[in-house]
Amino acid sequence: MIGWGISANSHDAAIAVFVDGKLVFASHSERYSGIKNDRDLCKEIVAAAKQFGYPDKIYWYEKPFKKTLRQLIAGQGWKYRDNNIEIYMARYEITAPITYVDHHLSHAATGYYTSGFDDACILVIDAIGEFETFTIWEGKGTNLKKRFSKCYPYSMGLFYSAMTQRVGLKPNEDEYILMGMAAYGDPNKHIQRIYEDFFKGHLDSFKMKKNLHRGCMDWAPDLIIKDSFDIAAAVQRLYEDWLDDILVKARLMVDSDNLVLMGGCALNCLANRFTGDYFDNTWIYPNPGDAGSAIGAVLANHPKWKDSTDWSNNFLGYDMGYRASNEEIVEYITQNKICGIARGKAEFGPRALGNRSLLADPRGAEIKDKVNAIKQRQEFRPFAPAILEELTDMYFDMPHRWNTSRYMQVVARCRHPQLYPAIIHRDGTSRVQTVPNDGSPFRKLLELWYKETGCPILLNTSLNIKGKPMVNDHADAKNFEHQYGVKVFN
Ligand SMILES: [Fe+2]
Repeated sequence: MIGWGISANSHDAAIAVFVDGKLVFASHSERYSGIKNDRDLCKEIVAAAKQFGYPDKIYWYEKPFKKTLRQLIAGQGWKYRDNNIEIYMARYEITAPITYVDHHLSHAATGYYTSGFDDACILVIDAIGEFETFTIWEGKGTNLKKRFSKCYPYSMGLFYSAMTQRVGLKPNEDEYILMGMAAYGDPNKHIQRIYEDFFKGHLDSFKMKKNLHRGCMDWAPDLIIKDSFDIAAAVQRLYEDWLDDILVKARLMVDSDNLVLMGGCALNCLANRFTGDYFDNTWIYPNPGDAGSAIGAVLANHPKWKDSTDWSNNFLGYDMGYRASNEEIVEYITQNKICGIARGKAEFGPRALGNRSLLADPRGAEIKDKVNAIKQRQEFRPFAPAILEELTDMYFDMPHRWNTSRYMQVVARCRHPQLYPAIIHRDGTSRVQTVPNDGSPFRKLLELWYKETGCPILLNTSLNIKGKPMVNDHADAKNFEHQYGVKVFN
């Protein structure tokens, strides 16, 4: 039995392939088409998925008719044909029967069934599903039950995206930049004004004054570019205050010590640091946005299939194999400070976790500027550290009940910021990747680096050309090397 989970026709399209209940492949369309956040499937990713056989069944990550209705209500017109998935899939010569799953159920299923928990409270927070924007679920055994739901136009995700656009960034893509900007601003300057202009009553009354579906570019014309950092700080503070309220509500609603956080907002690693204040354990699937729902669409229909897959990593994409040795990579970084690595299977998710990474020595003041110059991105943005997991506490103060952060999902305060300026943000935090002792090639590379230098940390950022998706195959690696003059080991 071959089942494909698909999330597409919106943004960041993805396919997850299950063979006899086991997940054997998952990737983003962008990695094959070269179009960042590609909204559509492309023939190359369909061909990659077909290598495991033609699908017996398709599991689609949302309900198209409901979405069509919402778009009609939102004034976007009657998009019935655009949302006809049989026609959509026929473009790729796939005519297998299709099962449709509610958007938020797909998110919840991806999170819960990959968590390893026997019970959990599941929060799904995104911009918009078909109608739903925020849901709370109870997971028990293999059952998922919705306990709370809020619908469009109320949406904290839309609010965050609209403000991302308001400060001149790209909505649905650059929210993480807004989050990074928050550390440079004063939240108190505009928070009251934003609160009064956008929210009705207390934050947890779930009422908003504006429908932010089309953004808020006309809001506060007196605030200009120089105010962007203060706006970012206020927006982040409001989101954190709201999440704090929600965590209390969820804790009271569902009797479980385990939290699963999903939806695009689960990528807010700054706000995520609070989850341990209310729950003993937190799980966020490393691809919590819509692309990751390709997995949940399948598991929502076949919960027991969760047991056939090892969920301890998300290396599920194109396999480049291993040619370069760790010895030559470590020797190169020791001498040249920076290099790319592209080995093994690509990560399924937005973070490079060691298989499609740009690595650098985190010591020294000049490294951050050098890597920023290569990546051509805003100089205020920090880079993430990958650290040997067992040494984490010596270098970082992890948030309460976050003992590990294997997928860069939470920030932690660095204990020695003066030693590692390249991986420290303005607020003294780092988006840590703790690398477990699992025998993986990246773990062994980090061990060797530690042995050679005494430093257990490597700067780790995604290997991609500006505006392009992460390197996927050998041709992409060559292009990267050619464009930036940075050695890429593969
Ligand atoms: Fe979503």
